[in-house]
Amino acid sequence: MEQYAIKGGNPLVGDVEIGGAKNAALPILAATIMTDETVYIENMPDVWDTNVLLSAMQNIGVMVKRTDRHKVTLNAGNVNSMIVEEEPLKKIRASYYLLGAILGKYKHAEVVLPGGCDIGFRAIDQHIKGFRALGATVSIEHGLIKAKAEKLRGGHVYMDCVSVGATINVMMAATLADGLTIIENSAKEPHVVDVANFLNSMGANIKGAGTDVIRVRGVQKLHGTEYAVIPDQIEAGTFMFAAAVTKGDVTVKNVIPKHLESVTAKLLEIGCEVEELDDCIRVVSSKPLIHTHVKTLPYPGFPTDMQPQITVALALSKGTSIVTETIFENRFKYVDELTRMGASIKVEGTTAIIDGVERYTGASISAPDLRAGSALVVAALAAEGTSTVDDIKYIQRGYEDFHLKLQSLGAQIELVQTEKDFQKFKLKTG
Ligand code: UD1
Repeated sequence: MEQYAIKGGNPLVGDVEIGGAKNAALPILAATIMTDETVYIENMPDVWDTNVLLSAMQNIGVMVKRTDRHKVTLNAGNVNSMIVEEEPLKKIRASYYLLGAILGKYKHAEVVLPGGCDIGFRAIDQHIKGFRALGATVSIEHGLIKAKAEKLRGGHVYMDCVSVGATINVMMAATLADGLTIIENSAKEPHVVDVANFLNSMGANIKGAGTDVIRVRGVQKLHGTEYAVIPDQIEAGTFMFAAAVTKGDVTVKNVIPKHLESVTAKLLEIGCEVEELDDCIRVVSSKPLIHTHVKTLPYPGFPTDMQPQITVALALSKGTSIVTETIFENRFKYVDELTRMGASIKVEGTTAIIDGVERYTGASISAPDLRAGSALVVAALAAEGTSTVDDIKYIQRGYEDFHLKLQSLGAQIELVQTEKDFQKFKLKTG
């Protein structure tokens, strides 16, 4: 079984190149189905989730050609099925984007119910409500969400909660509906804006993405385009916290600093130095970390996907910190693992009360989900001694070459397959 072996204690130092945003790439890939013309995508992350989606798209007739690791050419002129029910697709959340894209173009889509990380109840009622507002009938049968319409027509959708997925999905379907769709209380995340920009580059007419009211005037058809996915702010934020926790000095390159403002603000609050340049951010951690409070919120608030990473930092910060999770109710599962490394954290419902400790100690731990998995790796990098992290398949869903990028910053981390590999790692790292 693959696991990471980690010898903690090295400060991370150097530059790291950030890849394309997984959560923008996934809906962008799905949206390429909406034109018969060829689409060229750059800055595509090579991670498990995007590869599963690409393979499902190929299986319904989309031509997919990787021209290099991060460039892909797609043509959906010969889609031969509106039904997507592949087994691996059940494991990723973003499978639901195929619904909006295929429904928008073909007025009929059937897609397996989405999976994704087990971080709490992940409803899709707002997606369904949005499709219905566009005139589709939607049902869930035999594990598939089925959506159908004679014709999609513009509608008025008020989202009961701020949902990235529902906003993007309804925006996609509305792009090829007749007339005007207004999405109120829409999500404002950078990836929502990126998908809108992508669709507009294909000839869509979307205004207001990045605000809480999006207006989509339907168009007859979309055309081919060339597009580069935005940088991954969560990957960048993870390396920024890794610098903080290991007392390092890391520059994340190829980022949009504006997208990282909430992360930067918290790093400054806990005592790091943060320097923003045009497309990079340097984080230096030379003083003892200090406590703070944080509440996860929709963008531009502090992202729920960075909650485990900041908790790992606060558990090593002087004083008592409080972390409140407001987006997903089951996102503290990693705390038990962190406790095994010496953290002192009490979880009450959706709040974690953290008493900072001086150090972590290495332990055998498991990644419970994608972001918590990366946060536990960061904790192990700061710990005294050796750790192993199991279930790294979760981390590989969203981080490309995570251990290699960490190695390039001076981390002692290796992917090991067997006990023998692990013993070799221990001998080598002392
Ligand atoms: C996306 C991201 C995920 C991130 C999350 C919030 C992808 C593939 N995943 O997930 O990494 O943590 O945004 O930034 O992009 N909700 C409903 N009904 C719905 C939809 C959502 O009640 O129909 C609720 C959810 O249960 C959750 C909240 O709304 O409490 C936010 O969910 P949403 O923004 O939709 O998250 P995802 O799109 O699933």
